[in-house]
Amino acid sequence: MTITYAFDVYGTLIDPLAMASHLTTIAEDKAPQIASLWREKQLEYTFRRGLMRAYVPFDQVTAEALDFASESAGVSMTREQKGQLLTQYRTLDAFPDTAPALQQLRTNGHAMWAFSNGTPQDLGALLTHADVLTLLDGVVSVNEVQSFKPDPAVYARFCERANSEPDQTCLVSSNPFDVIGATNCGWQTVWVKRTDTAQFDPWSGFAPDRIIASLRELTQT
Ligand code: 2OP
Repeated sequence: MTITYAFDVYGTLIDPLAMASHLTTIAEDKAPQIASLWREKQLEYTFRRGLMRAYVPFDQVTAEALDFASESAGVSMTREQKGQLLTQYRTLDAFPDTAPALQQLRTNGHAMWAFSNGTPQDLGALLTHADVLTLLDGVVSVNEVQSFKPDPAVYARFCERANSEPDQTCLVSSNPFDVIGATNCGWQTVWVKRTDTAQFDPWSGFAPDRIIASLRELTQT
């Protein structure tokens, strides 16, 4: 049975927490704290906006989450500094295992897509910078349905665009809420446990089908 892989992007193919190094010049020792709260608030805002049916593009969510995180840490930033950080967010580096694993999966003949909360424009820039865009059959942004993960509508749109049945679609994501959202829609799921301390939500009936520490493990089946 051919599997269509849907790769989550932020946190799975590329590392949003790498922004801490860019924040250091502005926030010094508060950089890791701001980077972490920035990511936490970015995702919280997508959940809230999805429930409210008040969609705005992910880059606006990211900008507003940065405002919250920097203010929370008591670090003031100029408009130019924020603009530079948001530009750097569009060229975040991929994890080291991203390109080798996708190259290997490509040779195995699997259908491979990127599937993300990001805007089409930002995803194009990120995946090009990560040198993996040409390895993919396509990119599906939640922007197409004006909602966010884990709204079932975004998983349904992916299956429409990739022409794949839910039970033949495999989400690969480091984000437990995303893995649970895909399970909720009848997909196969792989949780990428990027750190030893990463924790999966203890929801009965929503455990991932597989847990891996590196994307390379996908090529070892
Ligand atoms: C993504 O959709 C969940 O932010 C993550 O790429």
